[in-house]
Amino acid sequence: MSHPRITLEHVSKQFAAPGAGRTAVLDNVSLTVNEGEFVCLLGPSGCGKSTILNLVAGFEQPDHGRVLLDHRPISEPGPERGMVFQQPMLFPWLTVRDNVTFGPRMTGADKASYQADAERYLQLVGLQDFAEHYPWQLSGGMRQRAALARAWLPKPQTLLMDEPFGALDAQTRLAMQELLTDIWQRTRTTILFVTHDVDEALFLADRVLVMSARPGQIRESLTVPFARPRNPEELLTDSAYGQLKRDILHAVREEAAKSLGLQPA
Ligand SMILES: Nc1ncnc2c1ncn2[C@@H]1O[C@H](COP(=O)(O)OP(=O)(O)OP(=O)(O)O)[C@@H](O)[C@H]1O
Ligand SMILES: [Mg+2]
Repeated sequence: MSHPRITLEHVSKQFAAPGAGRTAVLDNVSLTVNEGEFVCLLGPSGCGKSTILNLVAGFEQPDHGRVLLDHRPISEPGPERGMVFQQPMLFPWLTVRDNVTFGPRMTGADKASYQADAERYLQLVGLQDFAEHYPWQLSGGMRQRAALARAWLPKPQTLLMDEPFGALDAQTRLAMQELLTDIWQRTRTTILFVTHDVDEALFLADRVLVMSARPGQIRESLTVPFARPRNPEELLTDSAYGQLKRDILHAVREEAAKSLGLQPA
Protein backbone atom coordinates (compact mmCIF):
# COMPACT_ATOMS: atom_id res chain seq x y z
CA MET A 1 0.00 0.00 0.00
CA SER A 2 1.42 3.38 -0.94
CA HIS A 3 1.36 5.98 1.77
CA PRO A 4 0.74 9.63 0.81
CA ARG A 5 3.57 11.82 2.08
CA ILE A 6 2.52 15.13 0.48
CA THR A 7 -1.14 15.93 -0.10
CA LEU A 8 -2.74 19.08 -1.49
CA GLU A 9 -6.52 19.07 -1.06
CA HIS A 10 -8.46 21.66 -3.08
CA VAL A 11 -5.78 24.29 -2.57
CA SER A 12 -6.33 27.82 -3.79
CA LYS A 13 -3.88 30.68 -3.43
CA GLN A 14 -4.03 34.32 -4.41
CA PHE A 15 -1.38 37.01 -4.20
CA ALA A 16 -1.80 40.77 -4.02
CA ALA A 17 -0.87 42.26 -7.40
CA PRO A 18 0.37 45.86 -7.30
CA GLY A 19 -2.49 48.12 -8.46
CA ALA A 20 -4.50 45.15 -9.75
CA GLY A 21 -6.24 43.70 -6.73
CA ARG A 22 -5.39 40.05 -6.37
CA THR A 23 -4.09 37.41 -8.77
CA ALA A 24 -5.42 33.87 -8.46
CA VAL A 25 -2.32 31.69 -8.76
CA LEU A 26 -3.62 28.26 -7.76
CA ASP A 27 -7.24 27.24 -8.22
CA ASN A 28 -8.51 24.11 -6.52
CA VAL A 29 -5.28 22.11 -6.84
CA SER A 30 -5.30 18.57 -5.49
CA LEU A 31 -2.31 16.26 -5.73
CA THR A 32 -0.55 13.50 -3.85
CA VAL A 33 3.08 12.44 -3.74
CA ASN A 34 3.50 9.02 -2.16
CA GLU A 35 6.27 8.01 0.21
CA GLY A 36 9.45 7.33 -1.79
CA GLU A 37 7.90 8.56 -5.03
CA PHE A 38 9.69 10.86 -7.50
CA VAL A 39 7.21 13.28 -9.06
CA CYS A 40 8.04 15.96 -11.63
CA LEU A 41 5.87 19.06 -12.00
CA LEU A 42 5.72 20.78 -15.39
CA GLY A 43 3.75 23.77 -16.59
CA PRO A 44 4.01 27.20 -18.16
CA SER A 45 5.95 29.99 -16.50
CA GLY A 46 3.86 31.68 -13.83
CA CYS A 47 1.35 28.83 -13.36
CA GLY A 48 2.24 28.35 -9.70
CA LYS A 49 4.84 25.56 -9.59
CA SER A 50 7.18 27.35 -7.19
CA THR A 51 4.13 28.41 -5.17
CA ILE A 52 3.25 24.73 -4.67
CA LEU A 53 6.80 24.02 -3.44
CA ASN A 54 6.64 27.04 -1.13
CA LEU A 55 3.36 25.78 0.34
CA VAL A 56 4.82 22.32 0.96
CA ALA A 57 8.00 23.88 2.39
CA GLY A 58 5.80 25.85 4.81
CA PHE A 59 6.95 29.26 3.51
CA GLU A 60 3.39 30.07 2.40
CA GLN A 61 -0.10 29.12 3.60
CA PRO A 62 -3.07 28.28 1.33
CA ASP A 63 -6.12 30.61 1.22
CA HIS A 64 -8.42 27.60 0.83
CA GLY A 65 -7.88 23.87 1.09
CA ARG A 66 -5.23 21.94 2.97
CA VAL A 67 -1.55 21.12 2.49
CA LEU A 68 -0.61 17.98 4.43
CA LEU A 69 2.59 16.15 5.27
CA ASP A 70 1.90 12.60 6.44
CA HIS A 71 -1.78 13.58 6.91
CA ARG A 72 -0.91 16.56 9.17
CA PRO A 73 -1.36 20.20 8.09
CA ILE A 74 1.92 21.98 7.36
CA SER A 75 2.25 25.15 9.40
CA GLU A 76 5.95 26.02 9.13
CA PRO A 77 9.24 24.90 7.56
CA GLY A 78 10.95 21.88 9.10
CA PRO A 79 14.21 19.95 8.74
CA GLU A 80 12.41 16.85 7.43
CA ARG A 81 11.73 18.84 4.21
CA GLY A 82 14.79 19.93 2.21
CA MET A 83 14.69 22.50 -0.58
CA VAL A 84 17.04 22.95 -3.54
CA PHE A 85 16.66 26.15 -5.56
CA GLN A 86 17.44 26.96 -9.18
CA GLN A 87 20.47 28.96 -8.14
CA PRO A 88 22.52 27.12 -5.52
CA MET A 89 22.16 29.28 -2.43
CA LEU A 90 25.55 28.75 -0.83
CA PHE A 91 27.01 31.09 1.75
CA PRO A 92 29.94 32.81 0.02
CA TRP A 93 31.92 33.24 3.24
CA LEU A 94 31.81 29.51 4.13
CA THR A 95 33.87 26.70 2.63
CA VAL A 96 32.15 23.87 0.77
CA ARG A 97 32.41 21.63 3.85
CA ASP A 98 30.95 24.32 6.13
CA ASN A 99 28.15 24.97 3.64
CA VAL A 100 27.34 21.27 3.44
CA THR A 101 27.27 20.87 7.24
CA PHE A 102 25.43 24.17 7.83
CA GLY A 103 22.09 22.57 8.83
CA PRO A 104 23.33 20.24 11.59
CA ARG A 105 25.78 22.89 12.85
CA MET A 106 22.92 25.39 13.21
CA THR A 107 20.85 22.95 15.24
CA GLY A 108 23.85 22.44 17.54
CA ALA A 109 24.24 18.77 16.59
CA ASP A 110 27.29 16.95 17.88
CA LYS A 111 30.00 16.99 15.17
CA ALA A 112 30.49 13.23 15.49
CA SER A 113 26.86 12.71 14.48
CA TYR A 114 27.25 14.23 11.00
CA GLN A 115 30.96 14.32 10.15
CA ALA A 116 31.19 10.89 8.53
CA ASP A 117 27.98 11.48 6.52
CA ALA A 118 29.26 14.87 5.36
CA GLU A 119 32.45 13.29 4.01
CA ARG A 120 30.41 10.53 2.36
CA TYR A 121 28.16 13.04 0.59
CA LEU A 122 31.14 15.19 -0.43
CA GLN A 123 32.62 12.08 -1.97
CA LEU A 124 29.36 11.05 -3.62
CA VAL A 125 29.03 14.42 -5.36
CA GLY A 126 32.75 14.39 -6.27
CA LEU A 127 33.77 17.35 -4.13
CA GLN A 128 36.03 15.61 -1.61
CA ASP A 129 39.06 17.47 -2.97
CA PHE A 130 37.25 20.81 -2.92
CA ALA A 131 35.92 20.75 0.66
CA GLU A 132 38.11 23.68 1.68
CA HIS A 133 37.26 25.76 -1.40
CA TYR A 134 34.85 28.70 -1.26
CA PRO A 135 31.79 28.80 -3.58
CA TRP A 136 33.37 31.47 -5.83
CA GLN A 137 36.22 29.05 -6.53
CA LEU A 138 33.80 26.46 -7.98
CA SER A 139 32.08 26.05 -11.33
CA GLY A 140 28.28 26.33 -11.53
CA GLY A 141 27.85 22.55 -11.64
CA MET A 142 30.14 22.09 -8.63
CA ARG A 143 28.12 24.66 -6.68
CA GLN A 144 24.92 22.82 -7.47
CA ARG A 145 26.56 19.54 -6.35
CA ALA A 146 27.52 21.20 -3.06
CA ALA A 147 23.91 22.39 -2.66
CA LEU A 148 22.72 18.84 -3.31
CA ALA A 149 25.05 17.41 -0.65
CA ARG A 150 23.86 20.08 1.80
CA ALA A 151 20.20 19.30 1.12
CA TRP A 152 20.81 15.58 1.64
CA LEU A 153 22.93 15.68 4.77
CA PRO A 154 20.08 16.17 7.30
CA LYS A 155 18.43 13.05 5.76
CA PRO A 156 15.22 14.82 4.77
CA GLN A 157 12.21 12.58 4.24
CA THR A 158 11.10 14.93 1.50
CA LEU A 159 13.10 16.95 -1.00
CA LEU A 160 11.57 19.88 -2.88
CA MET A 161 13.57 20.84 -5.95
CA ASP A 162 12.82 23.95 -8.01
CA GLU A 163 14.46 23.68 -11.44
CA PRO A 164 17.74 22.81 -9.74
CA PHE A 165 19.59 22.01 -12.97
CA GLY A 166 18.02 24.75 -15.12
CA ALA A 167 21.17 26.86 -15.26
CA LEU A 168 23.57 24.02 -16.12
CA ASP A 169 24.99 23.03 -19.50
CA ALA A 170 23.52 19.90 -21.11
CA GLN A 171 26.36 17.52 -20.15
CA THR A 172 26.58 18.65 -16.52
CA ARG A 173 22.79 18.49 -16.33
CA LEU A 174 22.78 14.84 -17.47
CA ALA A 175 25.50 13.97 -14.97
CA MET A 176 23.52 15.69 -12.19
CA GLN A 177 20.35 13.82 -13.15
CA GLU A 178 22.21 10.51 -12.93
CA LEU A 179 23.73 11.52 -9.59
CA LEU A 180 20.30 12.52 -8.26
CA THR A 181 18.60 9.26 -9.27
CA ASP A 182 21.57 7.36 -7.87
CA ILE A 183 21.26 9.00 -4.42
CA TRP A 184 17.45 8.79 -4.56
CA GLN A 185 17.61 5.03 -5.21
CA ARG A 186 19.81 4.60 -2.12
CA THR A 187 17.71 6.82 0.17
CA ARG A 188 14.20 6.60 -1.30
CA THR A 189 13.54 10.18 -0.31
CA THR A 190 10.19 11.51 -1.52
CA ILE A 191 10.94 14.08 -4.24
CA LEU A 192 8.79 16.80 -5.80
CA PHE A 193 10.84 18.26 -8.64
CA VAL A 194 9.90 21.24 -10.82
CA THR A 195 11.29 21.36 -14.36
CA HIS A 196 10.57 22.82 -17.79
CA ASP A 197 12.49 20.02 -19.49
CA VAL A 198 10.35 17.06 -20.64
CA ASP A 199 13.38 14.80 -21.18
CA GLU A 200 14.57 15.56 -17.66
CA ALA A 201 11.13 14.67 -16.27
CA LEU A 202 11.02 11.40 -18.24
CA PHE A 203 14.48 10.40 -17.05
CA LEU A 204 13.83 11.21 -13.40
CA ALA A 205 10.19 10.73 -12.54
CA ASP A 206 7.86 7.93 -11.54
CA ARG A 207 5.02 10.28 -12.44
CA VAL A 208 4.73 13.59 -14.28
CA LEU A 209 2.12 16.21 -13.36
CA VAL A 210 1.33 18.80 -16.02
CA MET A 211 -0.20 22.05 -14.79
CA SER A 212 -2.51 24.36 -16.69
CA ALA A 213 -1.90 28.06 -17.29
CA ARG A 214 -2.56 30.37 -14.31
CA PRO A 215 -4.61 29.96 -12.24
CA GLY A 216 -2.80 26.66 -12.07
CA GLN A 217 -4.61 23.35 -11.88
CA ILE A 218 -3.31 19.84 -12.38
CA ARG A 219 -4.22 19.11 -15.99
CA GLU A 220 -2.70 15.64 -16.31
CA SER A 221 -0.94 12.98 -14.27
CA LEU A 222 1.12 10.55 -16.36
CA THR A 223 2.94 7.47 -15.09
CA VAL A 224 6.48 7.05 -16.44
CA PRO A 225 6.78 3.31 -17.03
CA PHE A 226 10.52 2.89 -17.75
CA ALA A 227 12.46 0.41 -15.60
CA ARG A 228 15.26 1.67 -13.36
CA PRO A 229 18.11 2.24 -13.40
CA ARG A 230 17.43 4.24 -16.57
CA ASN A 231 19.94 5.01 -19.24
CA PRO A 232 19.33 8.25 -21.19
CA GLU A 233 20.62 6.72 -24.43
CA GLU A 234 18.54 3.54 -24.15
CA LEU A 235 15.41 5.55 -23.31
CA LEU A 236 15.58 7.22 -26.72
CA THR A 237 15.25 3.84 -28.46
CA ASP A 238 12.07 2.98 -26.53
CA SER A 239 9.00 3.68 -28.69
CA ALA A 240 6.93 4.45 -25.56
CA TYR A 241 9.37 7.27 -24.82
CA GLY A 242 8.55 9.18 -28.00
CA GLN A 243 4.81 8.77 -27.46
CA LEU A 244 4.94 9.93 -23.85
CA LYS A 245 7.20 12.86 -24.71
CA ARG A 246 4.77 13.90 -27.47
CA ASP A 247 1.77 13.74 -25.10
CA ILE A 248 3.50 15.82 -22.43
CA LEU A 249 4.92 18.34 -24.92
CA HIS A 250 1.48 18.75 -26.44
CA ALA A 251 -0.10 19.52 -23.07
CA VAL A 252 2.74 21.83 -22.01
CA ARG A 253 2.73 23.75 -25.31
CA GLU A 254 -1.03 24.17 -25.23
CA GLU A 255 -0.91 25.59 -21.72
CA ALA A 256 2.11 27.79 -22.49
CA ALA A 257 0.24 29.23 -25.49
CA LYS A 258 -2.77 29.98 -23.27
CA SER A 259 -0.62 31.71 -20.69
CA LEU A 260 0.98 33.85 -23.42
CA GLY A 261 -2.40 34.52 -25.06
CA LEU A 262 -1.37 32.72 -28.28
CA GLN A 263 -2.99 30.01 -30.40
CA PRO A 264 -0.91 26.79 -30.38
CA ALA A 265 0.55 26.02 -33.83
N1 LIG B 1 5.13 36.11 -2.68
C1 LIG B 1 4.46 36.51 -3.77
N2 LIG B 1 3.82 37.69 -3.80
C2 LIG B 1 3.11 38.09 -4.89
N3 LIG B 1 2.99 37.36 -6.01
C3 LIG B 1 3.59 36.16 -6.04
C4 LIG B 1 4.37 35.67 -4.94
N4 LIG B 1 4.86 34.44 -5.26
C5 LIG B 1 4.41 34.19 -6.50
N5 LIG B 1 3.66 35.22 -6.98
C6 LIG B 1 2.97 35.26 -8.28
O1 LIG B 1 2.37 33.99 -8.48
C7 LIG B 1 2.44 33.61 -9.84
C8 LIG B 1 3.03 32.22 -9.92
O2 LIG B 1 4.38 32.26 -9.49
P1 LIG B 1 5.28 30.96 -9.37
O3 LIG B 1 6.62 31.45 -8.99
O4 LIG B 1 4.63 29.97 -8.50
O5 LIG B 1 5.26 30.43 -10.89
P2 LIG B 1 6.09 29.26 -11.56
O6 LIG B 1 5.11 28.30 -12.13
O7 LIG B 1 7.09 28.73 -10.60
O8 LIG B 1 6.82 30.01 -12.78
P3 LIG B 1 8.29 29.79 -13.39
O9 LIG B 1 8.19 28.58 -14.28
O10 LIG B 1 8.52 31.02 -14.21
O11 LIG B 1 9.27 29.63 -12.28
C9 LIG B 1 3.24 34.69 -10.55
O12 LIG B 1 2.31 35.54 -11.20
C10 LIG B 1 3.93 35.43 -9.43
O13 LIG B 1 4.09 36.79 -9.73
MG1 LIG C 1 9.17 28.85 -10.46
